[in-house]
Amino acid sequence: MDKINFYRTVFSQYLIDKIEHKQPRSLYEPVEYILNLGGKKIRPVLVLLAAETYDCNYEKALDAALAIEIFHNFSLMHDDIMDEAPLRRGKKTVHHKWDINTGILSGDAMLIQAYQYFENYDPKTFQALAKLFSKTALEVCEGQQYDIDFENQDEVEIEDYLKMIEYKTAVLIGAALQMGGIVAGVSDNEQQKLYEFGKNLGVAFQLQDDYLDAFGNPKMFGKQVGGDIIENKKTYLYIKALELAPKELGTQLKHLYSIEPSNPKDKINTIKLIFEESGAVEAIKGKIVDFTEKALSQIENLETSQENKQIYIDFSNNLMKREV
Ligand code: IPE
Ligand code: IPE
Ligand code: MG
Ligand code: MG
Ligand code: MG
Repeated sequence: MDKINFYRTVFSQYLIDKIEHKQPRSLYEPVEYILNLGGKKIRPVLVLLAAETYDCNYEKALDAALAIEIFHNFSLMHDDIMDEAPLRRGKKTVHHKWDINTGILSGDAMLIQAYQYFENYDPKTFQALAKLFSKTALEVCEGQQYDIDFENQDEVEIEDYLKMIEYKTAVLIGAALQMGGIVAGVSDNEQQKLYEFGKNLGVAFQLQDDYLDAFGNPKMFGKQVGGDIIENKKTYLYIKALELAPKELGTQLKHLYSIEPSNPKDKINTIKLIFEESGAVEAIKGKIVDFTEKALSQIENLETSQENKQIYIDFSNNLMKREV
């Protein structure tokens, strides 16, 4: 088994062992539900990988990994309310299975649980982890707010979109890696390289999420394909298509983004065609490669073995091939 699969397996078991059957059930059942839905576990895997990059036993990093994964699931629970999403990891979202109030409060409880796992570290490590976490969590809120604001904003610049996804998604991936570095006790400079790698990889990751949201295989993707189009999300595909498409096609796209038909099938299919014909699909694929390469340029400078560096390279390349 390769290192990444090993980390995923041990982390998944650790997570399951930590899930307590607590009262009141109406608060904790949705928590258990979302944590049991699986997911790729890329953030906790990166925490463990970063720690072991510097010869720190991954076991020391398990609680930081848990904090990140629980926070991530909290953010998904609230994100699904905000995006009115019906499906998550192939199953009903929490607010669809229960209701919105349940999604709000069970999500809040998870956010607090996430912080609690830092208490298992010595004071100095605790402080460093909590400081990074608070900064990151606030940035995620800021990114989420921009994402929602952009839905109703006429023009969104590519630069603003990239900043938005950096905040809502990429900083958490950066923080996951940096936390591994903190637990391993490496220098600030080394932590920064890990963070920058994660941040750029995270931008590539969110670009691909946007691509898969429109073009993913519904049987694999686990989320409602076309969900971003239904919600009129100003993704890279949309912004780029407006930039590249001939005027008429652009006008049609803008019109389609202003309507909310009860059956969105035609709207989704037409918009996907426009994304393809305008060259926006090709552009996003190029951007995913660019940000992955930018991420990997940080890896060359890590103070670790070539063998360890190769794990980051393989992980990043595999992420680009994902369908989920
Ligand atoms: C989904 O994250 C939210 C985004 C930031 C795109 P993941 O794609 O990592 O979700 P899971 O945990 O694997 O389901
Ligand atoms: C989610 O972005 C980012 C956070 C949860 C903070 P998306 O809204 O694109 O994530 P998915 O596609 O629902 O997983
Ligand atoms: Mg969403
Ligand atoms: Mg969202
Ligand atoms: Mg998405």
